[in-house]
Amino acid sequence: MTLPSKVITYAYIAVAHQSQEADVYKGYYFPSGTTFVPNVHGAFHDESKFSEPFRFNPERFLSENADFDPFSMGGFGYGRRTCPGRYVALSSSWLAISRMLAVFNILPTQDENGKAKVTPPEFISGLVVHPAPFEVIFNLRSEKFFEMIQEDNGNL
Ligand code: HEM
Repeated sequence: MTLPSKVITYAYIAVAHQSQEADVYKGYYFPSGTTFVPNVHGAFHDESKFSEPFRFNPERFLSENADFDPFSMGGFGYGRRTCPGRYVALSSSWLAISRMLAVFNILPTQDENGKAKVTPPEFISGLVVHPAPFEVIFNLRSEKFFEMIQEDNGNL
């Protein structure tokens, strides 16, 4: 399976906020009650913060020298209204992805000549951008996982 070589923007803007008092930012005056729409795409592709911001490079967040702390950079909103579900969201995403990778090899489908069918990814726009449905093969990494998964389903 190939991963996208470029970053895909999943949300271009975020939830609008309204200021409670007048303020000046970079010489611009904003009266109280101004609506601010966060430019998520701009913030996440800021060349002064990220090296090669348009290159798909999840490793940029892994090391201690990470470009930027992904937790504080705004994917979960800003300021006092920051998403209160972010800890649940990150933990449950980590659990779901790590459990799937532990038991399945995830492979591309094959064409009639047995060659991997790797189609360019397509996306559906909306409040957040979703990948369009695509075919993929989930192969159990070992037979013993079959029982384990069935047992797990019984516990749901
Ligand atoms: C990956 C998953 C998630 C993402 C990316 C996400 C993102 C966001 C964002 C961007 C906001 C707007 C923050 C702002 O106004 O600046 C928000 C608000 C909120 N989120 Fe999440 N969220 C996620 C999961 C969750 C979960 C799992 C819960 C609950 C268990 C949750 C509950 C809320 C609530 C209640 C608000 C409104 C907070 C307020 O307006 O004071 N979110 N979220």
